[in-house]
Amino acid sequence: MNYFDLRKKIEEQFKQNGIDELADIDWIMVEVLGIKRSMLPFVKEISGKDQEKIMSAVQKRVKHIPLDYIFGKSYFYGYEFKVDRNVLIPRQDTEILVENIVKDIKSKNKPVKVLDIGTGSGAIIVTIKKETNAECYAVDVSKKALEIAKYNAEQNNAKVEFIESNLFENVPKIKFDYIVSNPPYIESDVISTLQAEVRLNEPILALDGGVDGLDFYRKIINQSTDYLTSSGKIYFEIGYNQAEIVKNLLENDYSQIQVYKDYGGNDRVIVAQIKK
Ligand SMILES: C[S@@+](CC[C@H](N)C(=O)[O-])C[C@H]1O[C@@H](n2cnc3c(N)ncnc32)[C@H](O)[C@@H]1O
Repeated sequence: MNYFDLRKKIEEQFKQNGIDELADIDWIMVEVLGIKRSMLPFVKEISGKDQEKIMSAVQKRVKHIPLDYIFGKSYFYGYEFKVDRNVLIPRQDTEILVENIVKDIKSKNKPVKVLDIGTGSGAIIVTIKKETNAECYAVDVSKKALEIAKYNAEQNNAKVEFIESNLFENVPKIKFDYIVSNPPYIESDVISTLQAEVRLNEPILALDGGVDGLDFYRKIINQSTDYLTSSGKIYFEIGYNQAEIVKNLLENDYSQIQVYKDYGGNDRVIVAQIKK
């Protein structure tokens, strides 16, 4: 069977199961056939074995399993990360957070220490290490997430100190120049309304930010000042509607608060510097 015929067959299965992301059909074929997407239309014959592999992935995808979990990997900032259902799939929007902190660290031109809270796959801290060579620490409360994060650091040749910790509980009493976090920030009630791919597959521990979605911002902000240098900064990813409220939470101890938007034009990152 050629690419077009197989694609048509799969498209029907996607439609019957309410999967709108038709591009995923191509990405499944790219992964199985090991060729670039632009080459797919030129594939005249897909072997029986490859068809089986493709259809096996399709069977999972129509059950709303995200592609990254099906193939066990994700790309973030050009680096490859292993993922499974113990870690959030790193989002493109989170690259904005990393881009800003990386720019900031590079402008300092001096050695700095960075702490990532809720590291998940390790996408944020491994990328920061690769891009800046800062001294990097990361915590997560999930042992299984930390195993993945450690694997990802090793695979990407990035030295990061990982610590199993409920927020700051087991963090060494040292001062960091930067604290960065993409904490769980979805309101508990909203989780049941999220698309099945997220709701049924991604770890609840990575999503649930409490009744108003702000539990982790409150806790992290409250304790952060004990762990920052006198000119330390905090970088958060935030929900599209959380900029004002997180800004209010920060204002007691922080100044120079700035908000950055994501590729979709939504508020996505907030940064603040500790008050002198
Ligand atoms: C939204 S995910 C972010 C994952 C990753 N940093 C990223 O941006 O792709 C939040 C992470 O916080 C972790 N987490 C939840 N509660 C925590 C806690 N009390 N202490 C430390 N980490 C926690 C979760 O296990 C999850 O890995």
